[in-house]
Amino acid sequence: MSGAAIRRRPIVAGNWKMNFGPSDAHAFIIRILDDLERIAGVDRVICPPAISIAAAHALTGASGVALGAQNMYDAERGAFTGEISPLMLRGLCEYVILGHSERRALFGETDELVNRKALSALAHDLKPIVCVGERLEDRDANLTERVISTQVRGSLAGLPSERLNDLVVAYEPVWAIGTGRAATTQDARDVIAIIRALLGEMYGDEATAGVRVQYGGSVTAANARELAAEPEIDGALVGGASLTVDFVDIVRAFAEAKSLG
Ligand code: 13P
Repeated sequence: MSGAAIRRRPIVAGNWKMNFGPSDAHAFIIRILDDLERIAGVDRVICPPAISIAAAHALTGASGVALGAQNMYDAERGAFTGEISPLMLRGLCEYVILGHSERRALFGETDELVNRKALSALAHDLKPIVCVGERLEDRDANLTERVISTQVRGSLAGLPSERLNDLVVAYEPVWAIGTGRAATTQDARDVIAIIRALLGEMYGDEATAGVRVQYGGSVTAANARELAAEPEIDGALVGGASLTVDFVDIVRAFAEAKSLG
């Protein structure tokens, strides 16, 4: 059976990166929460820096808006200075971003480590948003498929198949992140098709039909509608634009586009 007929609930997440400490987080969430709450048919996720998660949770706790962490370590506790454990996130966050390209490039995260984190997240009832994406030099050298394959097979190995519906994959081409140059919907569709085919090879098409695949990289209020109209793109992972009220427009674009299809 093909997974083509499966309807996946769209998911738009804002990755604040290293912006908004607790008081700025509080002020910004106050500005957008009512509007976000009113948008139906889409999972809305805010991912503050770790120090602001509690302040965010105090506001979003009773709302339909979920929180995600931007990273975590895989161990539950212990001598891991500076790290955050899944036990600490549970109860505050529903999601956790793992293997973002900035963590891979700047902090040396490998597929093997991202995989351990993804397994740990699922074991602790957190939904992992696992990021993959090629660099410009990979794309220029026609290595996109190989790089994506290595990342998907390495980062997503051995996941319990009954938990795959909790997995979100974010396709974030590194050359599109923070550059103002989003991938074309055609590019995004092509690579997302590769990701889906790989997941199907690893776990079977049926088991992975519910996995949501987001696009990330220079998503704005101006291009969200076009991206959202692409059936293969189940949502967005938004960086810079999630620090402004434009985030609400992006969420709305996905809710509207996906409710029509
Ligand atoms: P920008 O939306 O700022 O390009 O960042 C994308 C991203 O890295 C989200 O995780």
